[in-house]
Amino acid sequence: MTRPAPDAVRYLTGITTTGTPHLGNYVGAIRPAVQASRTPGTQNFYFLADYHALIKCDDPARIQRSTLEIAACWLAAGLDPEQVFFYRQSDIPEIPELTWFLTCVCGKGLLNRAHAYKASVDKNQAAGADPDTDVTAGLFMYPVLMAADIILFNAHKVPVGRDQIQHIEMARDMAASFNHLYGPHFTLPEAAVDESVATLPGLDGRKMSKSYDNTIGLFTPAAQIRKQIAGIVTDSRSPGEPKDTEGSALFQIYRAFATPEETESLRRAYAEGIAWGDAKQLLFERIDREIAPMRQHYQSLVDNPAELERILRRGAERARAVATPFMSELRQAVGLRNLASQSNAKGANNAGKAEKAALPTFKQYREADGLHYFKLVEPGGRVLLQSRGFAAPREAGQAVAALRAEGAAGLVKLAGQVERPQSVSENELGNALSRLMQAD
Ligand code: TRP
Repeated sequence: MTRPAPDAVRYLTGITTTGTPHLGNYVGAIRPAVQASRTPGTQNFYFLADYHALIKCDDPARIQRSTLEIAACWLAAGLDPEQVFFYRQSDIPEIPELTWFLTCVCGKGLLNRAHAYKASVDKNQAAGADPDTDVTAGLFMYPVLMAADIILFNAHKVPVGRDQIQHIEMARDMAASFNHLYGPHFTLPEAAVDESVATLPGLDGRKMSKSYDNTIGLFTPAAQIRKQIAGIVTDSRSPGEPKDTEGSALFQIYRAFATPEETESLRRAYAEGIAWGDAKQLLFERIDREIAPMRQHYQSLVDNPAELERILRRGAERARAVATPFMSELRQAVGLRNLASQSNAKGANNAGKAEKAALPTFKQYREADGLHYFKLVEPGGRVLLQSRGFAAPREAGQAVAALRAEGAAGLVKLAGQVERPQSVSENELGNALSRLMQAD
């Protein structure tokens, strides 16, 4: 297994398993993600959001089939499951566990303001119905589950469509609330919206989407794709008449697959009055050229679900190697602890002493520049935190006192005044500070 450097930028995104992948999914999400997964210095988490699927879909066969198809699709598109973390949400029990922790720090008002929930309520109100008609608690809690997906792996960047930006902001809020209460355990995630990735128009010219029923299937048989392409809406100009590329769904779909030169030559063909039938043929050939090589791989995976199951379980095992120890740290942080390890329990003095001996210590000192510094040092001498220079020793002392009293929460206040060496992870430092705080 490749273990990227600990300072890699972590990307994470989930795909809800309710449908069959179409060209819009491919161009907008799958293809850019597979490309991004090969970028050095990044660590990538891609998962099948099947718990999210339950919120929208109560058809078990459809969820199973969609999970199979989407997994096969990502692999056929070139995702290397040993290079990235590729797993199924429901194989990671730490996700629902963290969902509960976050539920307990998330203001209900925050969830009231979520677009998807509000849209349902508004619709009910407009219809004169009870505001909560057909609104499940699952829909209401959707952003909390999504926050758990993201911050369990301390993702920095979350590639999503515009419609999901609010959810990432809510995940940030929940992570910050938790950090404020329990210390800096979580990285605050950011949405990564790729402006260069076009939204693909569908057969009717509106955005290609399952809900508009205007999609072209990604791995539907070629003959059927040809038929679907024939159904793309065009204007009524006849062969020989110059045609507009502006507003032409056909042209936009072509451009999403073609090189700039190919696009240019279709633009010329439009100006020269290419017949719509011929343009559709060009589009079919161009799409088929990209998809055909993947089709066989896709089919072999779909025909071999046991192999896909094996790949996903292996992915879950790798993801849990990260999630399980992190979750124990979080359980410890909130107070779900082994009772025998209680640090201030009477009679636990001996254990307490042994623990104290292994604790890191603050060292204050003066440098040749005349300024006063401190650092947090492990018993072995490794530096966990380094301060900048303070003019007065009292200032340095106050900063140390804040860290001792508040543990990792104190770090937030000292932003800019202390620095964590690159080789020390946020979690490590957070742990060290909370152990110190408990020992005091
Ligand atoms: N809500 C996302 C969507 O509908 C899917 C999703 C679930 C997701 N969990 C996620 C996306 C975590 C990014 C990160 O598109």
